[in-house]
Parts: sequence; structure tokens; C-alpha cells
Amino acid sequence: MGKIVVVGSINADMVFTSSIRPKAGETVLGESFSIIPGGKGANQAVAASKLGAESFMVGCVGKDSNGEFSIDNFNKYNVNTDCVEVISDVPTGVANIVVAEEDNSIIVIPGSNYKITKAMIDKHKEVILSADIVLLQLEIPIEIVEYTAELCKKNNVKVLLNPAPAKRLSESLIENSTYITPNEHEIKIILGKKSEDEIEALLKQYPNKIIVTMGSEGVKYFDEEIKTFPAFKIDVVDTTGAGDTFCGSLATALVNGKMLPDAISFANKAAALSTTKLGAQSGMPTIEELNNLK
Ligand code: RIB
Repeated sequence: MGKIVVVGSINADMVFTSSIRPKAGETVLGESFSIIPGGKGANQAVAASKLGAESFMVGCVGKDSNGEFSIDNFNKYNVNTDCVEVISDVPTGVANIVVAEEDNSIIVIPGSNYKITKAMIDKHKEVILSADIVLLQLEIPIEIVEYTAELCKKNNVKVLLNPAPAKRLSESLIENSTYITPNEHEIKIILGKKSEDEIEALLKQYPNKIIVTMGSEGVKYFDEEIKTFPAFKIDVVDTTGAGDTFCGSLATALVNGKMLPDAISFANKAAALSTTKLGAQSGMPTIEELNNLK
């Protein structure tokens, strides 16, 4: 089994479900509330582990109940937490998630996720560089993402960068990433290209590197021509974490020797399955569940 190291965010998700999404200045009555484990980094580590990868998390939690809850959750899913640091003066990251009208909207307060430093990356360098692939997202400071990607590149370790929440990326970060997985909104921000023609040109400029997830429209990337993988049709309950499931599963498939097109099909199926339950992690499939999906 391949080894995956995630350097990224750990959050407690405050999930509100409602049939109506409130407009600015409006109050609505919702249907349910739960506090569940999340954070793009943590979700990707759990997705990989559920599919059988050896999964390690590098990140920070606060010295509080949300931090304890997040570490317990990693233990439950067999994600190694030796490189998760507990920070005493800042709360664990939280996300306010509204699931309404068949989509979600999220506000993240990074808290301890913004306390990760270059010194911590150096301290956990041995673990990071022992990975078959390192997963990065943008819920920790961008300079840490850039520093880690550069370290990996220098040591020939592959990097999968999930550029979410989207920010303009530097040339060096693009260069140091092996794969970049924006969704259809993020692709317009990360390189400042807006029109369909510009985006197509961008995919051609980075063959087999930029993999765009497009929700119900599927996934596309460029390899001699634009290749599109249709989305798996399934009854959707909550799309939160589908992108994270895609990244964790894509990495797992790649480190287990699948070629990119097969790895994308595998991840596409896993991401679809993840939307069948409420919450980022609860619907993430095991390998058996994935194989049973025809
Ligand atoms: O991608 C979904 C995740 O985004 C949630 O779990 C939330 O914590 C935010 O980080």
C-alpha cells in the first residue's frame, strides 16, 4: 500500500441543514445541526486511509475539545497523528457549513491551521519526504504550501495540490506541483484565466497536470486532447467534501500504480459515493464499497 502525507488543515465542521438558504438580512428556520470532523486536509487524509492507503497528517489543532475530537477521529480512521501539533493559545479551526438547496456554502475560520510554521515542516521533514505523494490545500498559509512543495520537488516527492479555497498561484508553486486539482470555479482564479478558451489553453499548457473537477459535469484534463470523464450518477445528499474525497482517492490510486485515466475514474466514483451521506467524511467509501458500485 502506498504512503500518503497530507500537510494541511483540520477543522470542526458546524453543519446546518435547511430547505432554504437565507438571503442577506434574512432569518430562516433550519432542519438540523451537527458538529462533525472536517477540514480539507483532514478530509483528504481520511479519504485515503478509508481506501487502504497508509495515511499521515501534518497540521495543527488547538488545545481544546475540537482539537481532541479531531485527533480521536483520525485515530478512528487509522490516520497517523504523530505530526499533528497541539497549539495552546489558538482554537482549532472551524467551518460554518450551510447545506441548503442542493449545495453547500462554507465559511472557515482557520484558527490553529494558520499556526503551522516552516520550522514544523523541517521538524517533520523525514515523514513528509517518506511519502509516495504529498497532498496540499490552501487552508494553511500559502508560504507553508510553497515551502513544502519546494522541499518535495527538490527531493523528487510527488505533490498533489488542491487549490482550495482558491488563490492566485505562483509560477514556482505550479512548477513544484505534480498535479493540481481545481474545481470549475477555482480554475478561473488560480491562474487568472477566465474564458473557456483561456482555460482550454491552460490545460494544454500543463498536460496531465491540471485536473479540473466540475461537479455534475465530471472531470477534465489534457493529454494530447481534452479528456472528459462524466460524473457518476447517484442520489446526492450533501456534496461537502466531494472534492476532498476526489483528491484523497486520486492520490491513493496513483500511489497504488494506477495510470492517470484509471486513477481519475476511481476518484470520480469515490467522490460520487461521498455525496450520499451528510458531512464531509461520513460518505467516503471503503475500497469494498467502491468496488460494489457498478
Ligand atoms: O471541503 C470541505 C471542507 O471545507 C469542510 O470539511 C470544511 O472544514 C472546509 O475546510
